[in-house]
Amino acid sequence: MKICHTKDCIRALSDAWREGGESIALVPTMGYLHAGHMALVERARALGDRVVVWIFVNPAQFGDPEDLAKYPRDAERDLAMLRAAGVDAAFLPDVGEIYPEGDETIVETTRLANILHGQVRPGHFRGVTTVVTKFFNIIRPDYALFGEKDYQQLQVIRRMVRDLFMDVEIVGVATVRDADGLALSSRNVRLSPEDRAAAPVLNRALARAEEMAREGTTIEALEAAIRAMIEAEPRAALRGLDIVHPESLAPLEGALEAPAAILLSAEFGGILLIDQRVVSP
Ligand code: PAF
Repeated sequence: MKICHTKDCIRALSDAWREGGESIALVPTMGYLHAGHMALVERARALGDRVVVWIFVNPAQFGDPEDLAKYPRDAERDLAMLRAAGVDAAFLPDVGEIYPEGDETIVETTRLANILHGQVRPGHFRGVTTVVTKFFNIIRPDYALFGEKDYQQLQVIRRMVRDLFMDVEIVGVATVRDADGLALSSRNVRLSPEDRAAAPVLNRALARAEEMAREGTTIEALEAAIRAMIEAEPRAALRGLDIVHPESLAPLEGALEAPAAILLSAEFGGILLIDQRVVSP
């Protein structure tokens, strides 16, 4: 596996592969890899001739400097996992390589980035779309894979790619869960044992909503049932519950007559966890 720290290094590799007629699948990450990331890598291997993984804790998507400083990092362990998974190249630039002195351009999906989770974390999705654009321009992948857990992020990136005519196929990959249903996230390691034990309530509430949807229900009834389950867990503080159109993320109301995306976020001991489910009648 090649390890690159500079744009020139990864660009030389990707140019050579493309000139040789090979396709490139890119897995964007902020490192501290877990089975959820490895599911993206596995799917990337099935799609592309070459797999590139980027590891970059992107400062532009963190509002709170403390959150950025606390973000878990372990490059050696990450690289060992990627090597074992047969990845062709890992790209680990430093911040100056991606945001050089004088950098001032941003990319933003003006509506989608500023609703829902974007209101809880102002500027977050703008930071994501800006860095993703930079990486697409550096690596020029044929495919880029993103987890469905970050549902709004996936829709924001799909919108950006459509609006800016970017020549890359965005592939969403289903959320990987622990045995008790908690969606895998790099943040899970920061939970206390008690909060870790409480956190699967998110998945249980979504599973209940899925059942209700199948039986026939309304948006309001789904919302009330999820809210009641989360509020019954004393360690959970509900931060966001939105039932929206799966692509436009516009709020829905009344009878559930078509698929709807449920976006859920809650804090456990100050750690914000998110989960999502698309439910269908
Ligand atoms: O989902 C993530 O880990 C990040 O938001 C991403 C897409 C790697 C951009 O920094």
